[in-house]
Amino acid sequence: MINIPKGTKDVLPNQSYKWQYVENTAREVARAFNLSEIRTPTFEYTELFQRGVGETTDVVNKEMYTFEDKGGRSITLKPEGTAGAARLFIENGLASSPMPVKTFYITPAFRYERPQAGRLREFHQFGIEVFGSSAFQTDAEVIFAASAFLDKLGVKTKLEINSIGCKVCRAEYNKALKEYFKPHLADMCETCRTRFDKNPLRMLDCKEEGCKKINAGAPDITDYLCGECSQHFEGVKSLLSAQGLEFTINPRIVRGLDYYSKTVFEFVSDAIGAQGTVCGGGRYDGLVEQLGGQTVPAIGFAAGIERLLLLMENTGAKFPEEQKPRIYIAGMDVETRAKAFEIATALRLKGISAEIDHLNRSVKAQFKYADKLGAQYVAVIGGNELANGEVNIKNMTDGTQTAVKFNEIETYLNKQ
Ligand code: HAM
Repeated sequence: MINIPKGTKDVLPNQSYKWQYVENTAREVARAFNLSEIRTPTFEYTELFQRGVGETTDVVNKEMYTFEDKGGRSITLKPEGTAGAARLFIENGLASSPMPVKTFYITPAFRYERPQAGRLREFHQFGIEVFGSSAFQTDAEVIFAASAFLDKLGVKTKLEINSIGCKVCRAEYNKALKEYFKPHLADMCETCRTRFDKNPLRMLDCKEEGCKKINAGAPDITDYLCGECSQHFEGVKSLLSAQGLEFTINPRIVRGLDYYSKTVFEFVSDAIGAQGTVCGGGRYDGLVEQLGGQTVPAIGFAAGIERLLLLMENTGAKFPEEQKPRIYIAGMDVETRAKAFEIATALRLKGISAEIDHLNRSVKAQFKYADKLGAQYVAVIGGNELANGEVNIKNMTDGTQTAVKFNEIETYLNKQ
């Protein structure tokens, strides 16, 4: 037997309703926040992620699924949705539409990581990306959209926010970081040592225990923000507070991708183990320009659907009922089975879910089967029913039976 690749998951027929629930909720929230769906390809040219996500990130350095296609081009399966969204924005000239351009997506993403609970090699994200506004109100709106989505699903998380400043304040902060890290460098991992020269901020993202201890004493970016960044951050905080959204400031959030500036945030939970971040995002005012577009500020987030489902299951969140047939129609012989087929087809064409026997079962076995399927009503067509054009419909919840004409079954079910 050939097994599923490591780090990937099947969604089974009795589990897919949970996915649909999360995805439908995402779409509802997107509608309420006036976001329009975008879809980008599963693969892009590798350069998009190298330039967009950043050469010093783990995602680009270690985790991308990259291969050469038959034409000799370097192709990468998307490790996230933001770089592709920015490419779509530039390539399709969306900068000339009324701003902001508010988008969302539901997409698979691929990262070659060590699989564990909540960490897969193929996973799925619901993300939103808003292009063309530098106002702090937009940051607050995007954070509220994430919060509304998580609330609707009934999951409890904590919101942590930070500002990692702009080019100007980052330069000052990088200097301070280098001064701090210099005497510790010999005790830090190799990756951190290479990041010291290229991107010291990224050293704060290191997961090595030794480096984490040293990181704890590093200076906080929030002490180095320039006037504009600091005002922007104050604006975001005051809007969140005014709307009663609780948050803590965590100066250690730097995010794992290089395109961020100013506001960054994460919704975290301690109910799903080490991979506790269910949703992460932030502002990325330089990305569009860096990818060859105009100077267009932007902000967004992505929530991992598998992590959300894990959190919902671990905390007993409610899912809607799995879809069950409204009615099961049993037949006994060739003629009555043909009638059951005819009635079921007519109901199905009206959008009412109906089921029949496919395996030549006895009536008794069909009743059992209908019960297993969770059918709400069962009708058995025998010779008398066929002659009278009428059938007893049994309500499987309370056991009551009602005689209904064949051509009135739809009306009857719609009335219930
Ligand atoms: P990210 O933090 O890399 O950000 O991923 C966002 C979310 O995707 C995580 O919080 C997590 O729930 C989920 N996720 C990430 N990696 C895995 C994995 N290996 N297995 C399962 N779930 C995973 C981004 O991707 C940014 N593009 C978010 C963003 C949008 N920022 C601005 N706009």
